[in-house]
Amino acid sequence: MKIALVGYGKMGHMLEQTALSLGHSVVTTIDVFAEDAKVKIAAGDTKAMVDAVVASGAEGIIEFTHPASVMDNIKALLPTKIPLVVGTTGWNDKKEEVAALAASCGGTIMTSANFSIGVNVFYKIVEEACRLVNNFEEYDAALWEMHHNQKADSPSGTALDLAKHAMEFLTRKDTIVTNEFKARPKPNEFHVSSTRCGSVPGTHKIFFDSAADTIELTHTARSRQGFASGAVHAVINMKNLLDEGKLQTGKLYGMDDVFPGVF
Ligand SMILES: NC(=O)c1ccc[n+]([C@@H]2O[C@H](COP(=O)([O-])OP(=O)(O)OC[C@H]3O[C@@H](n4cnc5c(N)ncnc54)[C@H](O)[C@@H]3O)[C@@H](O)[C@H]2O)c1
Repeated sequence: MKIALVGYGKMGHMLEQTALSLGHSVVTTIDVFAEDAKVKIAAGDTKAMVDAVVASGAEGIIEFTHPASVMDNIKALLPTKIPLVVGTTGWNDKKEEVAALAASCGGTIMTSANFSIGVNVFYKIVEEACRLVNNFEEYDAALWEMHHNQKADSPSGTALDLAKHAMEFLTRKDTIVTNEFKARPKPNEFHVSSTRCGSVPGTHKIFFDSAADTIELTHTARSRQGFASGAVHAVINMKNLLDEGKLQTGKLYGMDDVFPGVF
């Protein structure tokens, strides 16, 4: 498959390596700063970006740029109708607008706050564990995450997502608490705590604790490779499912749509 990469930073480079290693071709790389990008455009010049994507003959686009650019990029790229995978975060509150735009122009887009295959598998494992533990009142649950000391926010978006997934199945928990406690936690409160240290790429752990024992499930990221792998598989699957008529054009999709029966 011919893939265009919009944004040729840390993720862009990893996406290129991953796509090539899976036997696909990267027909263009587009960036506003990266000197090694095939096409360098001026910031905000979405016409140049679209022209470069279309000229490359790309059959799929993967966008990992910056939260400040992502909406303009989506608006410009959707009308090309080339399947578009967006990894850039920070536009969660604009999803309805993007879905309406896709419907009006017939473009097809897919996104996920976390493309890591391992993390998405972990969500499913945690859901199943919560479903089992839900039968036994004696188990409490909590979530902990650790990331490098350059990360500016806490808890991680993944920890919050994980907690929401968990609470769908662990029905006695309905409130996420991330701040310090001034009183004993209530049984319905789900404590999500964070640690920042060194270069840790990202660790998420869920605890189920009873008087008799503790069950711990951990996902440990080793690098950003998992994100790249998930995003490349997502664009390939989306194109194939569209060609087979199993996905419709003009829609905004998520992981469960492009990995049907898996996530
Ligand atoms: N969804 C996920 O699973 C996931 C995983 C990792 C990173 N991300 C997100 O992806 C984004 C990029 O991450 P990164 O680590 O590659 O960042 P990065 O800073 O290393 O690279 C971003 C690149 O985009 C370029 N860029 C910015 N605006 C652009 C525009 N309008 N057109 C073309 N290029 C543009 C920058 O010059 C830079 O080279 C961030 O928002 C990050 O949070 C998401």
